[in-house]
Amino acid sequence: MVMPQPQIAPAEGKLGVLTVGLGAVASTLIAGVELAKRGQAAPIGSLTQMDTIRLGKRTDGRSPMIKDFVPLANLNDVVFGAWDPFPDDAYVAAQRAGVLESGKHLEGIAEALRDVRPMPAAFDRSYVKRLDGVHTMATIDKRSMLNAIREDINTFRDEKQVERVVMLWAASTEIFIEPGPAHQTIEAFNAAIDANDPMIAPSMLYAYAAILEGVPFANGAPNLTVDVPALRDLSVEHGVPISGKDFKTGQTLIKTVLGPMLRARMLGLSGWYSTNILGNRDGEVLDDPDNFKTKEESKLGVLEHILDAEAFPDLYGDVYHKVRINYYPPRGDNKEGWDNIDLFGWLGYPMQLKVDFLCRDSILAAPLALDLILFSDLAQRAGMSGIQEWLSFYYKAPMVAPGLHPEHDLFVQLEKLKNTLRWMMGEDQITHLGREYYDGDEA
Ligand SMILES: NC(=O)c1ccc[n+]([C@@H]2O[C@H](COP(=O)([O-])OP(=O)(O)OC[C@H]3O[C@@H](n4cnc5c(N)ncnc54)[C@H](O)[C@@H]3O)[C@@H](O)[C@H]2O)c1
Repeated sequence: MVMPQPQIAPAEGKLGVLTVGLGAVASTLIAGVELAKRGQAAPIGSLTQMDTIRLGKRTDGRSPMIKDFVPLANLNDVVFGAWDPFPDDAYVAAQRAGVLESGKHLEGIAEALRDVRPMPAAFDRSYVKRLDGVHTMATIDKRSMLNAIREDINTFRDEKQVERVVMLWAASTEIFIEPGPAHQTIEAFNAAIDANDPMIAPSMLYAYAAILEGVPFANGAPNLTVDVPALRDLSVEHGVPISGKDFKTGQTLIKTVLGPMLRARMLGLSGWYSTNILGNRDGEVLDDPDNFKTKEESKLGVLEHILDAEAFPDLYGDVYHKVRINYYPPRGDNKEGWDNIDLFGWLGYPMQLKVDFLCRDSILAAPLALDLILFSDLAQRAGMSGIQEWLSFYYKAPMVAPGLHPEHDLFVQLEKLKNTLRWMMGEDQITHLGREYYDGDEA
């Protein structure tokens, strides 16, 4: 069944972006957008700003920029707001995060950054034990937090005169929560809010408020958040796009390239050991076992789906997969991720592959955040509600419809994303069949 092409409303007026959390990722995102607006730095890593999309046959020579092909919001129309349990504005937050060089990338846009002052957060320390925020809503009553978030969204909308709003969770990873009865229906969800049930995390309140206010929600962390039946159903009812979870930036990005390579060549795998050191606040939060568990689940799921041990027990039936994150302050945001991969080939002969990725966490995450914001806004203007599976490209643990397994292969995800854009604009899907060049049938 071919779905009819959607009608896309134009990107008129300003686009408000509310980040939950104004830490390393959010401040790097905001600074990058402000620099790109002024032509002072290039938004490297962002498909919406830098990539092209092939249309038609290879011989047609049609490859416009994505931003010229689909009606995305212009960066000049993007206005930021945030919540954080620390009162630092985006300038101070960026200085503290230490990701960007102050003289080169912060001083020139200091005024714009100082203008992004976080609103008091809907924060409950039992979900992020390592943080002791003071700039909070002064209540942990869940209904009150929900109402206050909704009010904040509307105040932001009015004050900044924005036409549309997108919300991005760029806040700390919350403790692990398993989906339970409280998450199944919106009635159960509401009852749990009124009972201050611990199964309703602050991130769920932000997501719920966003959906009720018609604001697309993207989740950059591995928290369950919007990936529960009650909120998934509600997002469809309210015509709101949702996506998540957990930006796919460093080690998992590599894993979803190398994993499919092993599988594509039918090479076996006996073990994959991944370890990281990082020293930013994210690393500090993840040093708590309950918070790490949330991240671990998100990082571990990837290989299982890519390798499909059930279909290939001889190759992938006995894989030892381990993921570690170690908090190591001297490195700050500059993470080092090591992978040791024990693979085997023809007749079972063992081989090893080692990867040492000296990456920069927020430098990799910021462009993903920007694309998610612009694509979520596009999806909403195209009337695409609920889970946006085509945005799996950006996530470690992509949300999918119940009963589907997530697609993790980076290049399949990229094709899915680009084919969705082609579909939105009434262009042909690209199948890579290409028989017409050899059959003499140019039809
Ligand atoms: N940087 C990456 O490569 C990457 C990759 C995948 C996922 N993530 C996730 O993105 C998130 C942000 O990462 P970061 O490096 O910016 O972390 P960070 O610690 O620098 O920033 C997170 C901010 O969220 C705030 N916060 C915590 N709870 C909050 C709440 N309830 N409401 C509002 N604000 C709250 C914290 O005070 C902090 O300022 C983390 O969950 C991280 O795991 C990051």
